[in-house]
Amino acid sequence: MMKADNVGVHYGAIQAVHGVSLEIKAGGFVLILGPNGAGKTSFISALAGIVPCSAGKIVLDGADVTHVSATRRVRLGVSLVPEGRGVLKGLSVKENLLLGWHASAKERRGSFSTGLGEVTEIFPRLSERLEQDCSTLSGGEMQMLAVARAMLARPKVILLDEPSLGLAPLAVKAVYAALRRLSELGMTLVVVEQKNVPITSVPDRTLVMREGEVLLDMADGRPSEAELAELYLGGRR
Ligand SMILES: Nc1ncnc2c1ncn2[C@@H]1O[C@H](COP(=O)(O)OP(=O)(O)O)[C@@H](O)[C@H]1O
Ligand SMILES: [Mg+2]
Repeated sequence: MMKADNVGVHYGAIQAVHGVSLEIKAGGFVLILGPNGAGKTSFISALAGIVPCSAGKIVLDGADVTHVSATRRVRLGVSLVPEGRGVLKGLSVKENLLLGWHASAKERRGSFSTGLGEVTEIFPRLSERLEQDCSTLSGGEMQMLAVARAMLARPKVILLDEPSLGLAPLAVKAVYAALRRLSELGMTLVVVEQKNVPITSVPDRTLVMREGEVLLDMADGRPSEAELAELYLGGRR
């Protein structure tokens, strides 16, 4: 459904991503792990069109979207939940959700109230807090809001940048339980994390990145804590 082929990302002279390839299958769950500075954010930002590719290409549903803008990519079905969640404080939960709906393509989205009904069914805690300023939400609720907002754009794929960041262990569990439900409903997910978070669903592909490169590309599972520690410290296999 979406494919990255030898993608490179540069910031001036600094190369953050070196030829990363990934195939994202419809309904799949891809996990990207790597220590701080590994190029994870840069890579998924390139998938979303937020940073340009300095090499390689990105294909969505058979069409080359390498040079398609981020705004247009959202309309084509690629939604990014950024690190730090990107919810707008000072706006209510409902207003944040409305922004997600507005970002989507008119021909693909249904009415806002239909979309709202769908996301509050998946995230019931949000339905009780629609009129509340989102800065009053807990970290876990804010992360759910960020995912719900992405859902309102009716994405084909959601890219999540470190959804567990800054959350207490119970909140991480709740967020991943929600992601698992999305996965079960057929949503395609690409999740970036630094640590081996306690996910319950088995990724159909796991990439481990370090220093802009893929150290491990694993199908149907993810590395153990010990394997991951070794890879982060500099081992290669
Ligand atoms: N806007 C930027 N300008 C310059 N360098 C950047 C920028 N964003 C990231 N980098 C550099 O690119 C590398 C990869 O960063 P990033 O993609 O954020 O990694 P990760 O998300 O895995 O922590 C790092 O060395 C970082 O300093
Ligand atoms: Mg990052």
